[in-house]
This record gives sequence, C-alpha cells and structure tokens, in this order.
Amino acid sequence: MAGLKMKAAVVAAIAVMVYFGYFRRKPQYNPAEVAGLRVVVTGSSTGIGEQVAYKFASMGAKVLVTARTESKLQNVVKKCKELGSPESYYVAVSMGSYKNASKVIDMAMEKFGGIDVLILNHVDSGSILGGYQHNVAKIERALMTNTWTHAHMATVALENLIKNKGRIVAVSSAAGMVGVPLQVEYSTSKFALNGFFTSLRQELRFNKTTEVSISLCNLGFIDTDMATNLQKYIHSDLYSKIECAAEIVRGAMMRDRDIFFPDNIVQLSIIKDIIPDYVEKLIREEYHAPGSL
Ligand SMILES: NC(=O)c1ccc[n+]([C@@H]2O[C@H](COP(=O)([O-])OP(=O)(O)OC[C@H]3O[C@@H](n4cnc5c(N)ncnc54)[C@H](OP(=O)(O)O)[C@@H]3O)[C@@H](O)[C@H]2O)c1
Repeated sequence: MAGLKMKAAVVAAIAVMVYFGYFRRKPQYNPAEVAGLRVVVTGSSTGIGEQVAYKFASMGAKVLVTARTESKLQNVVKKCKELGSPESYYVAVSMGSYKNASKVIDMAMEKFGGIDVLILNHVDSGSILGGYQHNVAKIERALMTNTWTHAHMATVALENLIKNKGRIVAVSSAAGMVGVPLQVEYSTSKFALNGFFTSLRQELRFNKTTEVSISLCNLGFIDTDMATNLQKYIHSDLYSKIECAAEIVRGAMMRDRDIFFPDNIVQLSIIKDIIPDYVEKLIREEYHAPGSL
C-alpha cells in the first residue's frame, strides 16, 4: 500500500512538473503599467540587479540603484536614463549595517516621495563558496548582508508600500530550497531569507493587509561574473541574466508568489520533498571536493 502511494505521488509529481515546465503560459503584464513606478533595486551595480534596473528603466520607471561601488552605479544610472527612466539615482553604501540599509529607503522617500517596487537582491560575494569552518564572523556577515538588511529594508518601507499597494521581491536561490555543500553560510542566509519573507507575507494576509505583494525569487545558475567565476567548482549550466531579470520583473508586476528561473527550478521545488535523498545526491555531484578549492 505504501509502495502504491509512493508511485502515485511520483506520477502526480511528474505530471505537475511537465505542466509547469512545458505547458503553463505565464500571465503577462502591460508594460505601460510600469511607467512612472518608483523602483528600488539593491545590489544593482552589476549582475542580475543591474539588468533588473535596466528592464524597469526601459519601460519608464523611476529607478534608485544601490551597491558599494560608486563608479559602477554612476554608469548604471546613466544607462537607466538613456533607456528611458525619467528619474534615476544611486546610493553607494555597504549593506553591512541596518543604518546603511535605512539610508537607501530614506533616499528613495526623499527623491521619489514613496516606493512602489522594492527589489532586494544584494548578496555578500564572500559568502558564496568555501568549506564550512565555523567562522562566526563569516556567518554573521552573510546573515547581515544577505538576509537581515533585506528584512530591515522591507520593514522600514512597509508602511509606505502598503499605502501604495506596492510590491516586494526578495531574490533568493535554489540554495534556499535545498541544502548545498561548500555554501553553508550562503545557503543558511537564503533559507532564512525565505523564512522571513514567507512568514511576513502570512502575517500581512492574517492582518488582512493584502495590498502589498511579496514575491520570492528562486534562481538557478545565472551568467553573472560571480557565478561564472564559480564554474570551476560547480558543474551547472548558466542561464541568461537578461532573461532572468525579465522574469523577475514579470513576476513582480504579476505579484507572483514565487518566481522561478530557469523554469526547471519549479521542478526542483516539487521533487525536493518527495525524493530528498536523490535530489541532494544530484546536487552533491555538481560540486567539486573541498580539496580542490
Ligand atoms: N548568479 C547566480 O547564479 C545566482 C544564483 C542564485 C541566486 N542568485 C541571487 O541573485 C542575486 C544577485 O546575484 P548576482 O549573481 O547578480 O550577484 P553579483 O553579480 O555578485 O552582484 C551582487 C551585487 O550586490 C552588491 N553587493 C555585494 N556586496 C555588497 C555589500 N556588502 N553591500 C552592498 N552591496 C553589495 C554588488 O555590488 P558592489 O560589489 O559594488 O557592492 C553587486 O551589485 C543574489 O541575491 C544572489 O544570491 C544568483
């Protein structure tokens, strides 16, 4: 009987995976609705965040970008304006503290008078790879940069976002759905990110504050410099950051609960609880042994 139930579960999972992977037509937004929106994108001096800023800018949104490297942010702002953003600004800060995270929201309030879309995307590149060594400073830095500053910014901006029927997007990872070797700090910070934002979404609905949407972005490997540099340690196909950014913007505009990119991440999210040992084995096989680091 148990075997029969297992088989039925596997068949149902495969049917759902095929549907979501190949047949589901994703709802699309009207680009005209983006014009004039006030958008904040963190971690946007490069990589996925930079492309998200360009996508919003190209449809006429006002954009505030932030990261640490001022020279890169200046270039991003310039390009946002060229693409059609009526107003574009930057704040150069490190997300190593709540005070700095607040500065970004303060700047958006000062320049735009409010926020309609908050894309929380920044990540501490130092937390991405390395064998686990119980390095307290490293785990604390990963949690502060990758999780708590995201939570803090959403909290500080929440009242205004509720007023504006706004959108929050937290950019997470497949490493926030399944544990991965050599990325213990990073994976921990992404699981915590998912925990915070799914719980916050529940609480907002519980309080019947449903106007603000929270979308969680579950990403596989994307062809940013950061991921490309990891290719010698992790065997995995890389997917386009431009297409990834387009999907993040689509999901944000449609207020999707979860945004998956590439599409096969949705399949991972379904099978990870049905055949966890197998999924974890597949993931381990993508990684090189710590000795090669
Ligand atoms: N690429 C992938 O394969 C992949 C896979 C799954 C999930 N993701 C997620 O997607 C998001 C973007 O990743 P990405 O590949 O685009 O990364 P990236 O190219 O390394 O960009 C990271 C951004 O964060 C900024 N940043 C780094 N440390 C910071 C700090 N301490 N304070 C403030 N800003 C900081 C960087 O700019 P500065 O250095 O100038 O500060 C940069 O703008 C991340 O949340 C990541 O976890 C990526």
